[in-house]
Amino acid sequence: MAALFPKRSNTVFRLLLALMVLTPPAAFVALMVYVRTPWNTDQYVRVDQPVEFDHRHHVVDDEIECLYCHRDAETSANAGIPATDVCMGCHAQVWNESPLLEPVRRSYFANRPIPWNRVHNLADFAYFNHAVHVQRGIGCVQCHGRVDQMARIEKVESLQMRWCLECHRHPDRYPGNAAVQAASYDVFWGTPPRPADEVKTVRAITSLTTCTACHR
Ligand code: HEC
Ligand code: HEC
Ligand code: HEC
Ligand code: HEC
Ligand code: HEC
Repeated sequence: MAALFPKRSNTVFRLLLALMVLTPPAAFVALMVYVRTPWNTDQYVRVDQPVEFDHRHHVVDDEIECLYCHRDAETSANAGIPATDVCMGCHAQVWNESPLLEPVRRSYFANRPIPWNRVHNLADFAYFNHAVHVQRGIGCVQCHGRVDQMARIEKVESLQMRWCLECHRHPDRYPGNAAVQAASYDVFWGTPPRPADEVKTVRAITSLTTCTACHR
């Protein structure tokens, strides 16, 4: 009697078995890799804005400090986006006929805020506070990159939990970096350089990695 299955079925069966065992972990690993990539985190995406506002002109050419426009960064949770009044403080006089500034004038006279699009936006279940970090001497550049070189703001960090934790576990590896800060202070990154020892945490590291520090 001829064999019920041809000989190669053994090989086929073994291959199938191997696939069944290996596919779930492979898919898992692929997912874990994917969530860490910029495609998932929206990093390096240049978000369109209702006004062609260019940080390079304002920060470098006009030497306006970050805190002039994002004045709450040092004192409150949110850095905030400047109100139209702040723009008009200059643009009522300078470039007051520029077509690029038409939406700004419209917003001002209609008393309606410019609908800026958010670039950085944590989920509601995560709590972040600018003042805690900025007062500890961590410069804007540490988390937002070289804004002074960006025509449009892009996110340079993932803002994922592991990014926060990496620094909270080893705050001394990050700016304490008075040297880094001093080196790029000339490009206006907002907070003046501070002595390294001032940047060290005053709180125990464990309190910075407890879930409830960020999930309140
Ligand atoms: C003249 C005012 C002005 C100055 C000075 C300024 N900004 Fe901004 N910034 C804005 C406006 C307006 C927006 C919203 C439009 C945009 O995203 O480009 C913004 C957006 C941002 C965002 C993105 C906000 C989001 O949606 O997530 C970051 C980060 C930022 N600024 C950081 C900085 C830093 C760092 C400096 C100093 C190097 C700085 N800015 C200086 C006006 C200013
Ligand atoms: C401290 C003064 C000052 C403030 C505040 C300011 N700007 Fe300006 N802005 C300037 C100057 C000066 C220029 C000239 C461009 C350059 O430096 O090349 C300019 C240029 C611009 C331009 C380009 C105009 C063109 O025709 O090329 C836009 C758009 C603009 N600003 C938007 C804004 C917005 C939006 C705000 C508010 C968030 C703002 N600016 C706040 C001083 C200011
Ligand atoms: C330790 C990291 C860190 C530092 C330092 C930091 N930021 Fe942020 N920034 C963030 C995160 C995270 C968000 C998103 C917050 C959210 O969505 O709740 C953000 C959001 C913003 C926004 C959007 C509006 C808002 O308030 O959410 C602006 C503007 C901004 N930062 C400007 C600045 C400026 C200017 C400085 C320096 C004075 C600075 N940041 C320093 C991490 C940082
Ligand atoms: C570059 C380093 C750095 C990064 C990145 C960073 N932090 Fe922090 N964070 C610190 C330091 C340093 C302190 C401690 C300040 C102190 O000791 O008072 C702190 C304090 C805090 C606190 C206050 C804790 C408390 O006990 O009240 C919160 C909340 C916080 N960070 C949330 C975040 C979140 C959320 C992120 C990510 C989106 C983040 N941080 C990213 C350095 C960092
Ligand atoms: C330093 C701040 C910080 C601490 C401490 C922290 N988280 Fe998070 N967590 C975050 C941030 C930021 C996100 C991402 C928010 C977003 O995606 O916008 C996050 C996201 C999460 C998520 C959603 C899944 C994900 O990865 O996006 C879970 C679940 C979570 N955290 C649980 C925890 C638990 C459990 C602990 C304690 C062991 C903890 N977190 C401690 C900041 C923190």
